[in-house]
Amino acid sequence: MFEGKKILITGGTGSLGRALTKRLLETDVDTIRIFSRDELKQVQMQSDYDNNRLRYLIGDVRDKIRLLRALEDIDIVVHAAALKHVPVAEYNPFEAVKTNVNGTQNLLEACLDQNVNLGLAIGTDKAVSPLNTYGATKLLMERLFISANSYRGKRRKDQKFLCVRYGNVLGSRGSLVPTLVKQIQDGKKITITDPEMTRFNITMKEAIDLVFRTMEKGIGGQVFIPKLKAYKVGDMKDAVLELLDSKTEIETISVRPGEKYHEVLINQDELRYTYETDNDYILHEKRKDDDSIHSNNLKKTNLKDQYSSDKVDLINKDELKKILVNENLVNVE
Ligand SMILES: NC(=O)c1ccc[n+]([C@@H]2O[C@H](COP(=O)([O-])OP(=O)(O)OC[C@H]3O[C@@H](n4cnc5c(N)ncnc54)[C@H](OP(=O)(O)O)[C@@H]3O)[C@@H](O)[C@H]2O)c1
Repeated sequence: MFEGKKILITGGTGSLGRALTKRLLETDVDTIRIFSRDELKQVQMQSDYDNNRLRYLIGDVRDKIRLLRALEDIDIVVHAAALKHVPVAEYNPFEAVKTNVNGTQNLLEACLDQNVNLGLAIGTDKAVSPLNTYGATKLLMERLFISANSYRGKRRKDQKFLCVRYGNVLGSRGSLVPTLVKQIQDGKKITITDPEMTRFNITMKEAIDLVFRTMEKGIGGQVFIPKLKAYKVGDMKDAVLELLDSKTEIETISVRPGEKYHEVLINQDELRYTYETDNDYILHEKRKDDDSIHSNNLKKTNLKDQYSSDKVDLINKDELKKILVNENLVNVE
């Protein structure tokens, strides 16, 4: 799929961008352009990934002219650039709109103008029935990507735009596990919301596998959502405490504004156009203005209720411990 291809990753220096770059370098990809704003992160990545198939482009998705230049001759774009911290987006909503919404529109217009064959955007559970600014901007990001399939001209039938949607990647910066580990290592109290809250479990490897599956199987206009297990926040806390053999004091804090008790990856209304394969759920709305092929030959989903983290199989504390060790997220001597 990637042989001889030129790929651009917006936000290529981020957690997902770096992991994706690493996996893509194992293929016969021709070149990967890393597109982001901060030169320090690019210099650091350059020294970590010494590879002559990588190109580092400074640019901002808010700048369409820069994107048009950056996308010359590109076959595939992965859109990972975003302002992604819920409180940051809440405090700076105009900025979140500029990057997550206007930036996405700029990118799509540049992809259409430069005849990029495939564009794939990284979405989030927060976009499902959004409760906060971040989620609402990411919902628009998804909608813009899906609509781009109608914007392409009739001559460009092979051009497709797709999305993936998943929750917090296990161990990603600022998420539950690294926060708990840091609090324990710093000898601070550990803070936890309601232990009965649940979260879907997805590792970085699983997130990249999903991106690859979507590129391979997606026909345009679809959102791919992986079938996942979940865990209780309290079980994850206990797993980390036991692995680090810690008796640290625990403080219960309230659920953050805009935070959901259980994660939802597909809401009730979306079930009307949800299909499924062994690995994924696939959302595909039939749109009047899009005459491209539809997922008709896929199986309609068996889900009867919204796809949320309290309705799937739970991973118990002992299994969580194994995952944490395998993923190198907790250092056990
Ligand atoms: N991490 C998760 O658990 C998770 C879960 C679901 C979905 N997602 C989504 O996955 C994507 C990647 O997440 P991540 O964890 O890899 O994020 P991350 O580590 O924060 O990386 C974000 C990347 O975007 C770049 N960026 C930010 N603003 C930009 C702009 N205006 N123009 C160009 N580049 C910009 C950043 O580099 P500079 O600051 O140098 O520009 C960085 O390379 C995001 O879209 C996020 O919403 C993440």
